[in-house]
Amino acid sequence: MEPAAHQELKVRLAAILAEAAGSAAGTEASAILDAALAVRPEAPAELALELAGKRAAGAPLGLVTGRQRFLGVELLAKDDVLAPREETEILGNEVLSILRARAQEEPARELRMIDMGCGSGNLACAAAVAVPRARIWASDITASCAELTRANAARLSLLDRIEVSQGDLFAPLSGRGLEGTMDLVVMNPPYIPSTSLANSHAALLQHEPREAFDGGPYGISILSRLLQDAPPFLKPGGHLLFEFGLGQARMIQSLVEKKGLYASLRFASDAGGQPRAAIASK
Ligand SMILES: C[S@@+](CC[C@H](N)C(=O)[O-])C[C@H]1O[C@@H](n2cnc3c(N)ncnc32)[C@H](O)[C@@H]1O
Repeated sequence: MEPAAHQELKVRLAAILAEAAGSAAGTEASAILDAALAVRPEAPAELALELAGKRAAGAPLGLVTGRQRFLGVELLAKDDVLAPREETEILGNEVLSILRARAQEEPARELRMIDMGCGSGNLACAAAVAVPRARIWASDITASCAELTRANAARLSLLDRIEVSQGDLFAPLSGRGLEGTMDLVVMNPPYIPSTSLANSHAALLQHEPREAFDGGPYGISILSRLLQDAPPFLKPGGHLLFEFGLGQARMIQSLVEKKGLYASLRFASDAGGQPRAAIASK
């Protein structure tokens, strides 16, 4: 039974959060109280109110509580790494369904995947938890992301199957005998145009790093390099999967066609029917 003082505190937290979190205020108040209790079990009120204020000011819940769930896996979160977003579960679910299908078709073989721009390691960890035969190379350009991915993999006892590196796209993975061996390459790339980050999307940079969002002048600078550089790592019949922004599907389609490096392309959509992830097959 929850002490009355905690119940009262939760009502105060929900009131602070109501404007920012809307109908999720009750759930978020519980998560924030739990986070404060984990640090200060005897006197959580001051810290809980401070965290609720941070959340009400727009910080993602994961960054406020230091914990984030992605496809059912609990991950650590921290300030200079993108907190995984719910929409990225569309991409994650496609990754899991391809890996599971391959695991069924070829029961003895190790399945190989690169998680490029791994951030917190959400895609790598979710795939390794769901598919025990998956071996994953995760990489990111920032040291903070590489460190957090390593910490999350260690916490989930996955370091024997997730190797983490740091560098620009495929540079840390090149020349190590990995070319031509991957079943999947997956990336949730930065895809917001630089001009939008300077204007309508500027608030994103208050809480999370530019590297997570800035996709260059048209939002496709990293994506264009990914489309070019991923095929040498894929096995014949391997897949490149990536997330993209609302309204970018047409641009993606013509970019993939222009590259001429993929045999087929399909999209996965959100609950409202908007395409948000691409599956390009070699
Ligand atoms: C949108 S975030 C995705 C993070 C995580 N995979 C997720 O789904 O939450 C994009 C990630 O790509 C990384 N990134 C950006 N440019 C990169 C590059 N040139 N090479 C490798 N990683 C890069 C960023 O640091 C960031 O972690």
